[in-house]
Amino acid sequence: MDFQVEWFDKIASTNAAMRDAFRRGEKIESGRIIAAREQTDGRGRQDRKWLSAPDTNLCFSLFVQTGAELASVPSLTLAAALATTEMLNAQGIAAAPKWPNDVLVDGKKICGILSERVEPEGIIVGIGLNVNMSSEEAEAIGRPATSMLIETGTASDLSKTLDALLDLLDYWIGEWEQGGFAALREPWVLRAGPIGKPLTVRDGDIKKSGTLAGFGDHGELLLKTKNGIETIWSGDVS
Ligand code: BTN
Repeated sequence: MDFQVEWFDKIASTNAAMRDAFRRGEKIESGRIIAAREQTDGRGRQDRKWLSAPDTNLCFSLFVQTGAELASVPSLTLAAALATTEMLNAQGIAAAPKWPNDVLVDGKKICGILSERVEPEGIIVGIGLNVNMSSEEAEAIGRPATSMLIETGTASDLSKTLDALLDLLDYWIGEWEQGGFAALREPWVLRAGPIGKPLTVRDGDIKKSGTLAGFGDHGELLLKTKNGIETIWSGDVS
């Protein structure tokens, strides 16, 4: 994939900026990236806020042109989570992906991903990676969070971190483009498994408990419950 990166000092949300560029009718090709040193209105899943202090973390959105059906959007998020996990592992951080859109270190969130479908025929993959967040900032989030700085004791350059991540996004998105989730299933289960682990999934008021039975053809979670195998497309897993 040919990446074209555009950095902004301050932007409301890189995902929103990419969507706006489409609305204005700009010609946007696969590999186009909007990255921000500060987001004033970053968004996460379920319309949660994504907080990031200025000049501290990596916040960017990547456009991937694809004719893939809507059901393929979640598995592109999984490809991005695998890329982020491998980049962090290469730096000695024991990160692991967590279905459907996180990367965690020892139960603490280091990266969140928000993928959104845009017309014509493409997906915006928004990635928030905690790079130089301090422990105080992490504590202020109110949910378990960590950063590369907290894990390694060393600050990292944001654009170098992005470059390292792009090499792996190129690889994993390439796998996804060629084979869909089928191409990711084995590496995904290896890092996000094991099959049989106990899980509780919450989606709004609905709570389901069981064990991990595997992942379906689009990366949907298969939960083994006393009623049989249930297919879960979204939710918070613990
Ligand atoms: C989540 O964990 O709920 C997903 C968080 C996604 C945050 C990133 S930061 C870059 C991009 N722009 C946004 O407004 N959100 C995503």
